[in-house]
Parts: sequence; C-alpha cells; structure tokens
Amino acid sequence: MTARVLPPTPESLARAADILRIGGLVAMPTETVYGLACDGTNADAVACLYEAKGRPSFNPLIAHVASQAMAEREAVFSPLARKTAEHFWPGPLTLVLTVAKTGKVCDLARAGLDTIALRRPAHPVAQALLDTFNDPLVAPSANRSGHVSPTTAEHVRTDLADRIGMILDGGPCARGLESTILSFVGDAPVLLRAGAIATADLEAFLGHALARLDTNAGINAPGQLKSHYAPRASLRLNAATPMSGEGYLGFGDHCPRADNLSPTGDLAEAATNLFAMLRDLDYRYERIAVAPIPQTGLGEAINDRLARAAHRD
Ligand code: TXA
Ligand code: MG
Repeated sequence: MTARVLPPTPESLARAADILRIGGLVAMPTETVYGLACDGTNADAVACLYEAKGRPSFNPLIAHVASQAMAEREAVFSPLARKTAEHFWPGPLTLVLTVAKTGKVCDLARAGLDTIALRRPAHPVAQALLDTFNDPLVAPSANRSGHVSPTTAEHVRTDLADRIGMILDGGPCARGLESTILSFVGDAPVLLRAGAIATADLEAFLGHALARLDTNAGINAPGQLKSHYAPRASLRLNAATPMSGEGYLGFGDHCPRADNLSPTGDLAEAATNLFAMLRDLDYRYERIAVAPIPQTGLGEAINDRLARAAHRD
C-alpha cells in the first residue's frame, strides 16, 4: 500500500474521514507541521499510529479539536485556560489540562496520564477534516520518530507513504515549527515546549513571566527527548563560518544566500524554512554547521529544535 497524495477537495476530505472512521491513518497539513492523524477515541487506531511512527508509546499525543465545545468535553478548563484558548485558538498553541470525565480520547493516546494536550488548529484543511470527522483527531508530527518534522506533503511521503492511508496536500506549512505547549495543570501555567507562538507573546497575554519546564524532572517531561529531531548528518551549532566539507545553514545577510534560513534575519521566515532546509542539507552533507540564531522571539524555539537535532545519545 502506498498512500495517495491528494489535494483537499470535498471528495478527498470525505474519503479521509472514512479512512479515519475505520481506524486508518491520514496525514493532514496544519499551520505548524504536517500531522499524522487518527481517531483519538480508537485505541487500536492509536496503536497503529505509534507503530507507523516508530514512537515510544509512553509519549502522549496532542488531540486536535474542531471547536471550544469539543475541547471542553475532553478537558477541564479553568477560567484562565479558557481565556487563553479564546485568545490564541484557532492557532499554534497546545494546552495541557486535566482530562474531563466526559472525555472520549482513549487512555493510550494520553499514555495513561490524567492530563491531555489539546489544540484547535488554524489550518483550513485540518479544520475541514475535523469538522467532517466531528471527534478529536490525535496527531503527532507526520515523520518517523526521531526524524525532522515534515513541512510539506513530500516530506511526509518520503517518511511514511507505505505505512499510512492518505496524505492531504495543503502546501507548505506557514509556521514551520511545532506548537508552543503550555500546561495549566498546576497552580500556575508552565511552558512545556517553546514553539510557533513566541513565549514573549504568551507572557504579554498572561501578564507575567512563565515558568519553564524543568527538563530534569523526568515524569513531567514526556516526549521532550533530547535527540528528538536528529537528522543523519552531524550538526555543529553557533558556527560563524563553515569548515571545509561542512554544509552551512546560514542566517542573516552576512551569510551566503544559498541555504540561508532568512537572508534578512527574520525569525518567522527562519522558522518556516528550518525543517525543510535541514532535510535538504541532510541529503547533501555528512556534516552541517549552523550559523548563530538569536535567542529572542521565535529564536527560542528554533534554537531548541537545533539543540535536539545536534544531540547524540
Ligand atoms: O504543532 C504541533 O504541535 C504538531 C501538529 C501536528 O499539531 N504536533 C506535534 O506533536 O508536534 P508531537 O507528538 O510531535 O508532540 C507532542 C508533544 C510531545 O512532546 C508530548 O510529550 C507532549 O506534546 N504532550 C502530549 N500530551 C501531554 C501531556 N498530557 N502532558 C505533557 N506533555 C504532553
Ligand atoms: Mg514530533
């Protein structure tokens, strides 16, 4: 079986929903990265999804919802969590909340936790699929576990075509970085993953600095594996210039224009290009040097992904 890559049409969306209803896997575009979706209420489907991704099953998934009403069925929202959702949804923010008694997402998708990660995506194709399906779709990034996240349908095809039912092609992802993850489980919100919404924007909205996840805390950090985004090539970070034989991922106008995340030094553009350029350099080089990226704004999430890509166990 090789998955068909189809543009979104009423027919392909209906077909995708049919595949999902019988427990199959569909890759869908979101504004962050492509997600590998299955029926979040169907534990057999979720088991197949973990299998296709080659993902350790202790790593819980994000449940994507069509509406605030669907979200409130799955999780308990405090007034602040609801206000945050109203402000940032639909969009690239994932909220971790206590699971609701009425929740339909299966235990396996939550890796047995009593919390759940929810996101209401902004991409029209993801929204159309969620509206058609009318139940939460759990979806990790549509790459084999440990690979670089996919930002085009072609990336998904390369990684997963022979393991899934269909790929909906919504073009390149506008944001290019995974969602920011914010936990509302404790007394105060905690940033679990820097991502497509700059931390400063969340802090401005909440009116205070955010606590960051303590990455040594283990149990609170499912999925924050250090070597999460490993390309095949080795990576050398903060490299002002490449050494002989190295590919060079540049940033800013003092770097060559080829393989440059953003010649104008625009971090949003750099985020959009990051995974596609990493994949491309990975095909051509054994060793990749990466220019310094400022730690401000989206630079925090970009540097987080680069550090994971550079890490070797
Ligand atoms: O932008 C995104 O978030 C993309 C698109 C497809 O939505 N999805 C994505 O999923 O990046 P994934 O599976 O690659 O990352 C989900 C992260 C993992 O780090 C996982 O550990 C965390 O969310 N997570 C899920 N449920 C959690 C929970 N209950 N508590 C803490 N972290 C959780
Ligand atoms: Mg991922």
